[in-house]
Amino acid sequence: MTNATPRAQNRQAPPSPAERGAGGVRRARLAILLSGRGSNMLSLVQATQTGILKDLAEVSVVFSNKPDAPGLELAAAQGCPVASLPSQGRKREAFDAEAAALLQHYQPDFVVLAGYMRILSPAFIQPFAGRILNIHPADTHQHQGLHAYEWAFDNKLVETKITVHLVDEGLDTGPILAQQPVDLRGAETLAEVERRGLAVEHRLYAQTLAELIKTKQNIMSSAAETSRVLK
Ligand code: GRF
Repeated sequence: MTNATPRAQNRQAPPSPAERGAGGVRRARLAILLSGRGSNMLSLVQATQTGILKDLAEVSVVFSNKPDAPGLELAAAQGCPVASLPSQGRKREAFDAEAAALLQHYQPDFVVLAGYMRILSPAFIQPFAGRILNIHPADTHQHQGLHAYEWAFDNKLVETKITVHLVDEGLDTGPILAQQPVDLRGAETLAEVERRGLAVEHRLYAQTLAELIKTKQNIMSSAAETSRVLK
């Protein structure tokens, strides 16, 4: 299923009024990738609609490697363009190259992994290098890979740290952009650990993206001002 029409547009063209945020700056385009239920995707979409990302970002596509991921349906119900490409049975590099090519049609400024259950190969990382973000439900220096809430629960941690990081070719090894602790004292079940963690995830991901986009906008406007002065 690729049921969204990618925007055919010259990247150099000035933003149309619809693409501009309140300050007249072009909104950052987000491609959100998921494989499952999509609660982080949903909170990001809502942040672009009415929250901290309003006027800063828009969702250009929600993509999944699983055509039947519940998150895709949720995204479509929010009015987001959705696309999918089944990864099952595919060789990693070939799938990643095809997925990257598909996503490039949507011209994302950032590729935002939100429960995208794949280790990414260079074929995917290179086209978006430095622009891929992930959220991990633990300190990535302490725990990598799947089952981070189970790890925190089984080890009776009193605190875990939600981490937003840039994605490189390792497993949860990229530079950390933001971390926020979650108090796990008194959390008696795995469900409660997860509930507390997800509440933090949902806030931290949107906040981190908002900071990143504002930083990028400031750099661009300083560069534009410098080039105006030097003319
Ligand atoms: C989240 O815990 C996220 O940190 C991890 O995968 C889970 C995805 O959950 N990378 P959801 O699909 O966003 O609800």
